[in-house]
Amino acid sequence: MPGRPTTSAAPGPASVSDDALFDMRWERAVADLRAPLGRLYGRAIPIDALMDRLHALLARKWAERPVDLRVLDIRRDLDPHWFQSSRMAGYVFYVDRFAGTMRGVADRIPYLRDLGITYAHFMPCLMPRPGDSDGGYAVMDYTRIDPRLGTMAEFSEVCAEMRAAGISPCIDMVLNHTAREHDWAEKARAGDAYHQAFYRLYDAPEIPLEFEKTLLEVFPEQAPGNFTFDEAMGKWVWTTFNTFQWDLNWENPEVFLAIMETILTLANAGAEVLRLDAVAFMWKRMGTICQNEPEVHDILQAINQAASVAAPATIFKAEAIVGPDRLVPYLGAGRHTGKVCNLAYHNSLMVQFWSALATRETRMMTDVLARHFPDSFRGAQWATYIRCHDDIGWAITEEDAGRHGVTGPGHRRFLGDFYAGRFEGSFARGADFQVNEATGDSRTNGSFAALAGLEAALRTGDAEAIDRAVARIVLGHAIIAGFGGLPLVYMGDEIGLPNDTTFPDDPDLAGDGRWMQRPFMDWDLAGSAPTTDAPHGRIFRALRRTLSVRAACPELGGATASRVIDTGHGRLFCVARPGIDATTWLVANMSDEDQRLHRDALGLPDGPVPLDALTSLQPEIADDHIVIPALACLWLRAVHDGA
Ligand code: GLC
Ligand code: GLC
Repeated sequence: MPGRPTTSAAPGPASVSDDALFDMRWERAVADLRAPLGRLYGRAIPIDALMDRLHALLARKWAERPVDLRVLDIRRDLDPHWFQSSRMAGYVFYVDRFAGTMRGVADRIPYLRDLGITYAHFMPCLMPRPGDSDGGYAVMDYTRIDPRLGTMAEFSEVCAEMRAAGISPCIDMVLNHTAREHDWAEKARAGDAYHQAFYRLYDAPEIPLEFEKTLLEVFPEQAPGNFTFDEAMGKWVWTTFNTFQWDLNWENPEVFLAIMETILTLANAGAEVLRLDAVAFMWKRMGTICQNEPEVHDILQAINQAASVAAPATIFKAEAIVGPDRLVPYLGAGRHTGKVCNLAYHNSLMVQFWSALATRETRMMTDVLARHFPDSFRGAQWATYIRCHDDIGWAITEEDAGRHGVTGPGHRRFLGDFYAGRFEGSFARGADFQVNEATGDSRTNGSFAALAGLEAALRTGDAEAIDRAVARIVLGHAIIAGFGGLPLVYMGDEIGLPNDTTFPDDPDLAGDGRWMQRPFMDWDLAGSAPTTDAPHGRIFRALRRTLSVRAACPELGGATASRVIDTGHGRLFCVARPGIDATTWLVANMSDEDQRLHRDALGLPDGPVPLDALTSLQPEIADDHIVIPALACLWLRAVHDGA
């Protein structure tokens, strides 16, 4: 049989053509594509026909894939756990606020490298609708970069420069909705039936009203309800977020194919990570809140598996800011294990950090994080973060609150009050977001520094308060770096930038308080950070050290289990990271006083208490108790015998 190697063939160099690689990767993925696509679209289109169209699309995008990225594909195929390395650390920024333009971002690569960054998330930078675009999350053209920032060619160049510097670029893929001004929506508005089927449109209000009975509202203040009447079509459009963000109809296989094409275009431009926005909302089912429906995980599997054929270096991050019990499947559960997204935001860790910091109590944090989440995932891990560009939703369930002697609404109200600075003695200077009169729930805005007390402390100049605020920020960064997963540093947090107070001057931003935590980079502060003892310098250097220590401790990477330890100590949050050659115990003191913990509570090996890797110092020991200074995080690291 021609082409088939036989055992009698003479030894010689192995070589495989690019087309043969494509075929092998298709074979690898075909079963994992066929099953979810059959479930999703088998009624709309014969599955063989859909698979043929998908194969053609993937082959076409593979043919377009630049050679350097095909080489990267091979490297990633050989090292599929690359993103789980302890060297991986992310930085998240708006191009304009960070560096002005795409070219400007390239000039900042040395800054990112110095900080220890190996993953760079470009916040939405595709062509947005004019005016208010929800921070770029209302895209009108997925093939163009926002012209104010640059061009797709420039984006590609910056990606190549990052790749050469060991930094993996990440870009947003908004796939729950497009802008009303997107070509598909414009065609729909002009009456084109093919494109009307891309969206969820209703001729009369009855069905929308029926859905509304169980739907929640994401923006009850600025965009109440989930449907918008479009005059041009005379139809109701599903708009979960703002009125100008039209939800795509993922029941239509044409939507899957069109979005897949877009994803592969971005991957071929050099994006290594795609952040899939608002994925929880992609599938709708009457009588439910239309979030986290099982079909969402079929869609995510199909997207991931399709990319593994035509752009295998690409990984995916799910943005699903949902309750603890709903979060886990985004990293693969049941039949989707190891087949969906590689990264998902650990919003529960974020919420519990802020909750523990406010109460100085860690029992709920320990309980929630141990109870709801597995220690590790197959080929997937968390993206850990303390702040991002969005508000904090106080996702604390009734059951979790109840086990700790508080009620869900009561604790959520306390956290809202505390971080808005209304609670007596609060150090925080945040603000409410989208207060929902009907449910009494509100969410919270504010930069890391403002919520952690730095803003208030700098205003009064109280040195002790400043020290405590700096310690809270350093602590937060040590937790996201040590917990397990990919830590994401949000631009400006490395130098403790305060809330932005200028956004209300811009009419396109004024209506959305989340701009408070989306400041412009202060390059003067950043310039002095490596040398000054001012707060921003201390925060910057602590983070830089944290990331470099982490890089040298393989067990702190994402492939190692994260075992939350219940030590019974109500002020400490403890996690063991048992690696192959070493184990590190993260011991975080969430209170304003020094705490003591008996060494047996952590299950440390016999012998002296291990050094704190973050400081390279022996922690203070008193009567077999480890002393953990107020608001400190220790990384006790024991190298295993024989390692
Ligand atoms: C995501 C984004 C958020 C945006 C929403 C709608 O949750 O993080 O900023 O408003 O999706 O696209
Ligand atoms: C909610 C949604 C999230 C969205 C955010 C916007 O948390 O779950 O997807 O980004 O609101 O503020």
